[in-house]
Amino acid sequence: MTRVLSCIQPTGEVHLGNYLGALRGWAQGQHSVAGGQRDAFHGIVDLHALTVTEAPEVVGRATVELAAMLFAIGLDPDIATVFVQSHVAEHSQLGWMMECTVSFGELSRMTQFKDKSARRESEFVSAGLFTYPALQAADILLYDTNEVPVGEDQRQHVEITRDIALRFNHRFGETFVVPKAVTPKAGARVMDLQDPTAKMSKSTGSDAGLVNLLDDPAEIARKFKRAMTDSDGEVRFDRASKPGVSNLLEILAACVGEPPESLATRYTQYGPLKTDAGEAVVELLRPIQARYHELMGDRGELQALLRKGADKARAVASVTLARAQSAVGMLPA
Ligand code: TYM
Repeated sequence: MTRVLSCIQPTGEVHLGNYLGALRGWAQGQHSVAGGQRDAFHGIVDLHALTVTEAPEVVGRATVELAAMLFAIGLDPDIATVFVQSHVAEHSQLGWMMECTVSFGELSRMTQFKDKSARRESEFVSAGLFTYPALQAADILLYDTNEVPVGEDQRQHVEITRDIALRFNHRFGETFVVPKAVTPKAGARVMDLQDPTAKMSKSTGSDAGLVNLLDDPAEIARKFKRAMTDSDGEVRFDRASKPGVSNLLEILAACVGEPPESLATRYTQYGPLKTDAGEAVVELLRPIQARYHELMGDRGELQALLRKGADKARAVASVTLARAQSAVGMLPA
């Protein structure tokens, strides 16, 4: 059996990068395929969101909305386990053990920490933002995870998780499964439509460059029409010298399931490419938006699904935590 785990933070709206880079793969990856059973766990990582939370009432609302979105994109509560990280206390408990298994130097080299702390400049930079990858390692290792479906930007965090697992196993004996990151062919790094050299992100960039899954069709079309391209007028897939056009081609490729290089041969102008990419995204999101609004109409049901998810998650996580504590030789309570 292949155990799959991946998580998303409840901070702001879910955007097209999250969807094409990760969530779509989660929905596909929950089903067993020829050659093997798959068992998928997906966490709404509210403890991670606390690293940048400074106001009350925000994180809980974002958690429910994100739960509705995860079911709307197709995670089936009867197949996949969808849970809230703070509902499974083992994450915090193993998180501490992971902090003691990773070095200050390793954490200092994380590009996400460097970027995020630099962006927060004069704002409060929490210690949690720095130790974040240790908690993420706990998220992954608690479930004996084989595959972690993520966008390209999370590769480094999965790499450090592997290093932590190997170090722990070396020190205390075989305890953790060593996971690997899995990224999609197209869409692993969706770029900002206004600044195609920066990844699409909820915390950076302009609204015009960010496509949220709940944007209405006219807004999506407008954002694509205004997408930044270049002035040479040639449609070619070349990320280095034509980042804007290549981003549009890759988004379209991810929507229609064809390679961006072959899509490029069908266009001689930027206008039609922008229109087609926008339309493809609108069509992709239409059913998701409808399901999302339906699900948000029944908060009680959402909470019940999350409780069921937490119970299933805890059953696995508690066994792994106990194994890790016993490997270290901690005195049982
Ligand atoms: P988060 O919440 O920032 O993003 C969720 C997922 O979306 C992917 N993603 C993108 N993919 C392509 N293009 C983009 N522009 C883009 N932006 C975001 C991310 O790669 C991610 O897969 N640290 C994680 C959350 C986390 C986690 C985990 C992930 C906590 N514990 C355990 C996997 C396993 C994060 O902040 O993702």
